[in-house]
Amino acid sequence: MAERPRVADWKTDFDHLSDEWAAKSPEILAELREECPVAQTERFWGAYLVSRHADIVETARDTETFSNRITVINDNHPDNIGLELPPITLDPPEHGPIRRALLPSFSPKSTDELEPKVVAMAERLLDATEGRDVVDGAIDYAQLLPIDVMGYLFGVSPEMGPSFRRWADAMLKEGLGDLEIARTAAREVQEFFASQLREREEQGDDAPDDLVSTVLRAQAELPDGDSRPFGRKERIGALFVLMLGGIDTTWSTLGSMLFHLGSHPDDLQRLVAEPDLMPAAIEEFLRFYSPATIARYITDDAEIAGCPVSEGKRLLLSYPSANRDPDYFDQPDDFVLDRDDNRHMAFGVGVHRCLGSNLARMELRVGLSAWLERYPRFELAVEPHEVAWSIGPIRGPRSVPLRVLK
Ligand code: HEM
Repeated sequence: MAERPRVADWKTDFDHLSDEWAAKSPEILAELREECPVAQTERFWGAYLVSRHADIVETARDTETFSNRITVINDNHPDNIGLELPPITLDPPEHGPIRRALLPSFSPKSTDELEPKVVAMAERLLDATEGRDVVDGAIDYAQLLPIDVMGYLFGVSPEMGPSFRRWADAMLKEGLGDLEIARTAAREVQEFFASQLREREEQGDDAPDDLVSTVLRAQAELPDGDSRPFGRKERIGALFVLMLGGIDTTWSTLGSMLFHLGSHPDDLQRLVAEPDLMPAAIEEFLRFYSPATIARYITDDAEIAGCPVSEGKRLLLSYPSANRDPDYFDQPDDFVLDRDDNRHMAFGVGVHRCLGSNLARMELRVGLSAWLERYPRFELAVEPHEVAWSIGPIRGPRSVPLRVLK
């Protein structure tokens, strides 16, 4: 990404696309929660950042004033609404029918049926790392598993993996500061899914039972109880958002999990000795390292926590910050492997709450369990501060070199 002017003061000049943010956002957010819960920057045409749990819940629930028509803040002008990616870029009442049509593919039942396949994918990736002294938990594993899973769900060739990866990076990282990169990638993704949809259409009744076929057949309910097929743009947009939503978020969390265990030997030892802790541990990883920060577009002048916010500007809802709010969690900056009653907000809140959360939790559990079975003892091969974190709305470690211990 191009060089950006250094931030002078995070309360009045924040830049969530800067290297400093990527490296230190938990510390920056702690300061904002304490001193300036609704920060405004002069960058990005005057965007806001909301950091306290209660304010984030309230803002996310007011879908009329805080619209999802924009969900990332890039260098684009706020009037340029960008891609239509239903359901995430739709507000009620249009949002519900599209979301409900997609939900069955991500139900607990669908996820359970997929699980053995994901176990096999994880094993295959781990087989490829056998015999090495150092394995990169992010590059060689975490970043590959969700791509394999989504490719399988879409029913596309495994050879598309590198393209999925390049597209996710272009849309959610480099493309935020260089709009031409994002535009080129968006065009490629749209052409790709358009050709997949055409193929399924031509196959008719012989089309495989995959997500592309599901979206092709999907029906959005109408207010009178009748239903209609998705339009062409809705089909392509829905496949696009499933690809983007399903890849980077999950790989970032799995990468963070391996980073944490590689740098906290007590937690590693305990999780290996007590595998029943896995479900609670997954929730704590999601809370502590929650990756996704999502934007909203302000449709009317309003107030958040007594601070005025203006129509036509955008704001960031920091779910990671909500998850470290001491007014909501006890000792939020402590990682507690068996934390009870962990009602975190990593998957968001309100009508747009993550549609893929069942799938994500399964991938994280399977991905980590398979790793721990293969490599029960390992340690970070660099100092924790040497690990670089990604820039953009999805935060995760870019590389996690792990030394395998015998
Ligand atoms: C650890 C992994 C994941 C995290 C942390 C995560 C996080 C989130 C968050 C915070 C939102 C709320 C957006 C908002 O407030 O506007 C969201 C929505 C969404 N996520 Fe996820 N996600 C993950 C995995 C997945 C997976 C695996 C899929 C599907 C393949 C997926 C698909 C979606 C979709 C389609 C939406 C939009 C839902 C709607 O607008 O109704 N996500 N996700």
